[in-house]
Amino acid sequence: MAIEHTLTSEEALAGLDVDQLKQLVGLVEYDEANDPFPVTGWDAVVWVVGNAAQAAHYYQSVYGMELVAYSGPETGNRDHAAYVLRSGGVRFVLKGAVAPDSPLVAHHAAHGDGVVDIALEVPDVDRCISHAREQGATVLEEPRDVTDEHGTVRVGAIATYGDTRHTLVDRSRYDGPYLPGYVERRSGFDRLNHRGAAGAPKRIFQALDHVVGNVELGRMDTWVDFYHRVMGFTNMAEFIGDDIATDYSALMSKVVASGNHRVKFPLNEPAAGKKKSQIDEYLEFYGGPGAQHLALATNDILAAVDVLRAEGVEFLVTPDSYYTDPELRARIGEVRVPIEELQARGILVDRDEDGYLLQIFTKPIGDRPTVFFELIERHGSLGFGKGNFKALFEAIEREQERRGNF
Ligand SMILES: [Fe+2]
Repeated sequence: MAIEHTLTSEEALAGLDVDQLKQLVGLVEYDEANDPFPVTGWDAVVWVVGNAAQAAHYYQSVYGMELVAYSGPETGNRDHAAYVLRSGGVRFVLKGAVAPDSPLVAHHAAHGDGVVDIALEVPDVDRCISHAREQGATVLEEPRDVTDEHGTVRVGAIATYGDTRHTLVDRSRYDGPYLPGYVERRSGFDRLNHRGAAGAPKRIFQALDHVVGNVELGRMDTWVDFYHRVMGFTNMAEFIGDDIATDYSALMSKVVASGNHRVKFPLNEPAAGKKKSQIDEYLEFYGGPGAQHLALATNDILAAVDVLRAEGVEFLVTPDSYYTDPELRARIGEVRVPIEELQARGILVDRDEDGYLLQIFTKPIGDRPTVFFELIERHGSLGFGKGNFKALFEAIEREQERRGNF
């Protein structure tokens, strides 16, 4: 899949073009001829939550997403309610149980709010599923057509870490609001009125950059191998040991990506430290492996942070020493705004041979100390903020300590 073919229908709909995407999420050219499992891009991040109706409001009012589709008892779905929200090329689907015996009840009891499905848009579902099966993946859903008055979607699904899955979607013959079974739905929520005339950005984020998976101790390489063999992903960066160890806890991380880097999956496992690592805490409270954070790409991280903070979103605190440390400052060099502007917001900077990136991390978004968001603004850098890991993890540990889990 060459870069020019990589726009998903959502991205095209959002008016994103390839150059914008390239800057937002760091795309690269690659030879698609040998790709056994071509991926166009992200299709949707599907969440199971305790209260989808309220979560849908949260993502509209706080994260500036737009409600576009719905499925629930009114549409014949007796099992659960599902709200489809969009921001730029990013699609979230929030599902909450309606029927007391819905399978989502058990899922939520086990994991709390979290990501159940990282769905990917692919040009050929059957080819992907058959390759995945050959490589020993667990096929959860055989390829099948699903049809309604808007056309036909072909879907199939494979299992990945924990109770997480990848649904593979070919929506080239479909123009409905999401999938058959969903109806178009808009909300009465008026975001611009809500925010007043304070110059809020049209969108807080435009694209999904990466989704990080936390897996058990000793299993990282198994899942790296899974993404290589089953999905034809390639290695990006590799972080081991001292790169991301603080004095007390450590983790190991490797990053795999689809051919053109449109889809990037860092995979973490805990490493031995003096105290419980943040990955151990996640695994304990999520009840096993799962998606740890979603990096939302923005073209204006300062405005995004200002809006989110005004809405009450809490970010990890970056110590002032991060900005005054001479070594760190020298490494950061010149960025598009004065360092003081970043310091005022706690935004981190990292630089590599290709450029730099700005990033910031929220605290966990639910009751359990599990999933959270990253905001990322790339300026050429294809990395993940490796140089920030230590400063960042020390900040995370201060939070863990406050929760009594350190
Ligand atoms: Fe990240």
